[in-house]
Amino acid sequence: MKVDCHSHILPGLDDGAQTLEDSLFLAGKLTEWGYRRVVCTPHSTVKYRNSPATVLVACELLRGELARKCIELELIPSMEYRLVPETWPVVKESGWLLPWEENHILVELPIRNPEKIGDIVPLAEVRWLVSEGYQPVLAHPERYLYLSMDVCRAFKDAGAQLQRNLGTLEGMYGEDVRARAKSLDAAGMYDWVGSDLHSREYAEYFDEFVFGR
Ligand SMILES: [Fe+2]
Repeated sequence: MKVDCHSHILPGLDDGAQTLEDSLFLAGKLTEWGYRRVVCTPHSTVKYRNSPATVLVACELLRGELARKCIELELIPSMEYRLVPETWPVVKESGWLLPWEENHILVELPIRNPEKIGDIVPLAEVRWLVSEGYQPVLAHPERYLYLSMDVCRAFKDAGAQLQRNLGTLEGMYGEDVRARAKSLDAAGMYDWVGSDLHSREYAEYFDEFVFGR
């Protein structure tokens, strides 16, 4: 079954779908592209302080609407956890880890500002997740241009899987990110591809450049 392991289609939780209408549109697009199951991964950041409770409520709401519209897409509630001092320790202390497929946890780093990682040591957090029985998945490593290939490999060695974003190889995030994605892909480093679907603009890009419609 075709699974999208990274999406922002739940309504009103982050910078993804803002309304139920947006969510239904994006869910419909995923089914058009052949997906039957999607992991819903709203951000856990300073700006978007989601908890499993908020995610589960939004997930139920969207499930109901999908059923009413006869859109066959299975929603799996989870989150995308940013490894920054303002949120990650709270997540750990509160037990706010919401894994998909029993134990997968999607983590992300700041895209452009590594100083925001502060005193968090991402590799140590990956090892901690593994020690707790989780399977950490690092979201879109190709977008962190401050990480070298060797550091990406160190994430793998520490037990993380790597997830490429749909559209990166087509240049959706620019030439530098495309080049990095190609290098990681050529080295066989990716375990997952996720849409990271946020909006209609993402869907238009995928329609035009990835699925060729
Ligand atoms: Fe994301």
